[in-house]
Amino acid sequence: MLAEFRKLVLFPGELSALEIGAGLNPLAHNVKFHSVTFLEADQAPQAQATLNILKTYPRAENTHVVNGKLQDFAKASAAGRMPAEVPKNFDVCIINEVFTHIPPRERAKALEDLAAHSKKFFIVDRYATIYPGAKSGPVYQGTLVDYRPLQAALERKGFLAKVALKEVGWSPDKYFMLSAIKIPPK
Ligand SMILES: C[S@@+](CC[C@H](N)C(=O)[O-])C[C@H]1O[C@@H](n2cnc3c(N)ncnc32)[C@H](O)[C@@H]1O
Repeated sequence: MLAEFRKLVLFPGELSALEIGAGLNPLAHNVKFHSVTFLEADQAPQAQATLNILKTYPRAENTHVVNGKLQDFAKASAAGRMPAEVPKNFDVCIINEVFTHIPPRERAKALEDLAAHSKKFFIVDRYATIYPGAKSGPVYQGTLVDYRPLQAALERKGFLAKVALKEVGWSPDKYFMLSAIKIPPK
């Protein structure tokens, strides 16, 4: 996954990133972005403690931490409800295992709203789970996050979007990686 991510963010030192739902495991920590904004919905003390630590990474003056939901970021930003120091536009937006927590009917609309605020997207989530113990062999359970409406939402907004499917050895879950780049106007 990291290899695909790095391919999307060549020269990260020149890029601003928005990572949504970083939890305890920010993908942005793997490269040195010029600036990073973390948007996290969880208000629990543990999450807040983690977010406070994130404020020091990678360069305190370039790192912002905002409490809020993915679905509300675009609206709050447009309405001027975000803190003034938080950027409104980003080079890349990272959404790693967050759509799982958002009702399916809200996902594509939220991503369309966000599309105006970022030139690239890197979205990772589970699209199926295998239960290895099933009698008839591995079984695919229902789709957890359907990447097709997400891909279509970005394409409607003028992005070139491609999906790679991935199995990871340590988990029965099957993952997709959706990388998207805004096509510049001619
Ligand atoms: C499964 S964890 C993933 C954490 C990390 N990105 C990773 O892959 O290890 C989901 C994270 O998304 C956050 N989250 C859930 N719903 C969200 C929403 N609507 N907007 C922003 N963050 C959300 C949770 O608080 C949590 O930190």
